[in-house]
Order: sequence, then C-alpha cells, then structure tokens
Amino acid sequence: MLSFNFGVSVVWDGFYLYVEGESFEPFIRKLGDLSDVLASPSQIRDPDAPAYFVYRGVHRNHDVKTFREKRIRHDITIIPPILNGNEPVKTYGHGHADDYPEIYQVIRGRGHFIFQRRTRDGYEVYLIEGEENSILPIPPAYEHITINPSNEVLILSNLISENCSSIYAHVREKRGACIYEVITNCGLKLVRNPNYEDCNVVIKRLRAPTISQSLYELFLYFPDSFDFLNDPTKFKEHVVSVKEFCVSASELLENL
Ligand SMILES: [Fe+2]
Repeated sequence: MLSFNFGVSVVWDGFYLYVEGESFEPFIRKLGDLSDVLASPSQIRDPDAPAYFVYRGVHRNHDVKTFREKRIRHDITIIPPILNGNEPVKTYGHGHADDYPEIYQVIRGRGHFIFQRRTRDGYEVYLIEGEENSILPIPPAYEHITINPSNEVLILSNLISENCSSIYAHVREKRGACIYEVITNCGLKLVRNPNYEDCNVVIKRLRAPTISQSLYELFLYFPDSFDFLNDPTKFKEHVVSVKEFCVSASELLENL
C-alpha cells in the first residue's frame, strides 16, 4: 500500500488506485512491451511483469463536471524502480497527433524527462531533471519519454486534452529517443541511439522548476487558464494566466 497526494489523498495497492472510495483500474505497460525501445532488450528478465501503471481520468466525483466541460483529462502514472540490465525503467515514449501540448507534475520521486523535436537538420533533445512538485509543460511537437533513474517509485500527474491521441510509431521505428540513459560504474550516462546516427542531435540539460500547489488543484481553481491544452497555437502565450504556474512554467519554457 502506498499513499500519496496529487491535491487529493489517494491510496495505491499495487494495482488499483483508490480515490475517495472509488477504485481506478490501470492500463499496464509490461516490461516486454518496452523491448521495442530499450538499449538492450535482451536484458529484460520478466517480460510479463508490469513496467508502469497509467490511470486515466482520475478525478474526484464532484470534480468531473469541470474536467468534462473543459475537455481536459487528469491522469496518474506510477513507475516503480526497475532495471532492465543497466537501463533504468522508462515509459515507451510518444508524440501527440495534431501537436497537442501536455503538462506533467512530479508527485513523488525523481524523474528524468526526455523531450525531443525534429529540427531542419536533426533533433533538439532536452534531458530535464524533475523532483517532487516539479512542473513540466510539454510544448507542441515534442516527443516525450520519462525515465525513473532512482531506486524509489516515481509518480506523475498530468493534464491533457481529451481530444489528444498519442503516436508511438516514430519512437518504435527508431527504437526509442535519440539518447538512452544507462547506469555505469561512474553513475548515469547518456548513450546515443545509433538509429539517429545520421542526424545532428543537440542535447541540453535542464532542471524543472517546482510549484507549491498541485496541478489538479490549479486546474480546478483556474480552469480557463488551461484552455491552451486544447489549442496548441496558444500554448506559449497562454501559459501565463496563473502566476505561480506561469512563472515556473515560463522558466522552463524560456530554455526550451
Ligand atoms: Fe503525452
């Protein structure tokens, strides 16, 4: 049993997520599913074991109306610490159809986030470190992958348009992002994915800013301020309506 708080206190029993008496069932990504995108897929020990758990549409009953009216969904992702050979567990990775943006917040643990975008002659890649309460706006057109580099569970909250669908084909075809993060004797190290060999890859490291309030609560207090999630063209100019969120999110976006 694990208790945590994304603005609402919840309990996770290793499968179900309980929110005020209601239970949410996960979509489970198995370790075997990650064989498409790992540096060394042969090092997966138990392909049927869960790699991570995704709970979509996690709301308190009395908050559902606001989420529906705004066509925005709140999800929780739980990524336990697992090693596949020398590669820490990570999400499969995806981009979004129609370039919808998204926003993450780290609820518990530490994460490394890879955001990558095609440029005219290659790829622009950001490796962003996040800790508890970090806020990570994902601008339009960035593929994104989350790594749990720690030995503790990583829990994320995210807000996304209900109309957004994920595209996995490109990440699958390239066998992951431009970079893999692996553990060596000297600690974590970035390794280039050879499937991007002919591309010019520019890697930048950033630390995500933190905010004191949960994304979930901010959305309920200021739902109009998140309208940009349904309009990718308004992303940058609209991440300005909630001061605390704005200051922190802009701090990250200025560097992206
Ligand atoms: Fe996404």
